[in-house]
Amino acid sequence: MSRRGHDEIRLLPDEFQRLRELFNKHCGLQFGPEARTSMERRLRERVVVLGLTSFSQYYEYLRYHSRGRAELDEALDVITVNETYFFREDYQLRALVTEIVPMLVRAGGGRGRLSIWSAGCSTGEEVYSIAIAARESGAAERCDVRIFGSDISRRCVVAARKGVYGASSFRATPPELRRRYFTERPDGFHVVDELRSLCQFGHLNLLDSSRAAVVGRVDVIFCRNVLIYLDEESRRRVIEIFYERLSPGGFLLLGHSESLLNVSTAFELVHLREDLVYRKPAATLRLGLAALAPERGDGGKGE
Ligand SMILES: C[S@@+](CC[C@H](N)C(=O)[O-])C[C@H]1O[C@@H](n2cnc3c(N)ncnc32)[C@H](O)[C@@H]1O
Repeated sequence: MSRRGHDEIRLLPDEFQRLRELFNKHCGLQFGPEARTSMERRLRERVVVLGLTSFSQYYEYLRYHSRGRAELDEALDVITVNETYFFREDYQLRALVTEIVPMLVRAGGGRGRLSIWSAGCSTGEEVYSIAIAARESGAAERCDVRIFGSDISRRCVVAARKGVYGASSFRATPPELRRRYFTERPDGFHVVDELRSLCQFGHLNLLDSSRAAVVGRVDVIFCRNVLIYLDEESRRRVIEIFYERLSPGGFLLLGHSESLLNVSTAFELVHLREDLVYRKPAATLRLGLAALAPERGDGGKGE
């Protein structure tokens, strides 16, 4: 088919409806009517690569083809919004190292290990920013800091592991930190091993509660600018998973436009000098969680 022929492959309203329901069921992403043209533009390439001639065929492929599951990952690579950069919302990184880490260290006594999960980490800038903050503050020397980054986009996880970045990722990074923690090469700025050793990455759908269990118990969860893309029920399920994964007394940090309003009452709100954050109560009352998913009969464990 000619280039012009490809442009004639249109995402019709009923096809858009079926595709968005499929994506929503899989990972909670919600797409409003205004997303139809961008979805058409982003997925058309996939339709063409697979030798298909319509979005209806593409939908059938996703649902019934033996490679449908793998194709779903390809689709998610192009339809997720992966915008991120180093030191985004940096006041939260300051809150982490100046207030949260000291509180956790005091509460944990001599345990000396700090596990942080960046859930929806995109291409890894958030994870490495946390690692830099931990190094700069000395927290990484005082305790054994581990940061795990996860994302549903396989392309993003590959990029995060690679750890090579272009100038736009550094739009909010103080130059001296870029010099200290990155090596400039012809293909971009490479994360130094000193940071890499603190960080790990994995592919994870936040709605998949059984796979999320592999994250283990964590002390802090960063989930910033992710919940805004999910529908309300999916937000509840994700927050419930976070609750399960957090140690008692552990912290949850959301993006500045996100909150747990109408999502969960299981966390307590903690007023820090620079931020408002959520904390799982140290003495956990499981009863609080029942309110999260009253309509489901599976005890809130998901599919
Ligand atoms: C806008 S980026 C946010 C990146 C980073 N947290 C930040 O604030 O800069 C949102 C990320 O969430 C991921 N995401 C969306 N839905 C997800 C899901 N159900 N499970 C895991 N990751 C998801 C997307 O792939 C995307 O990379």
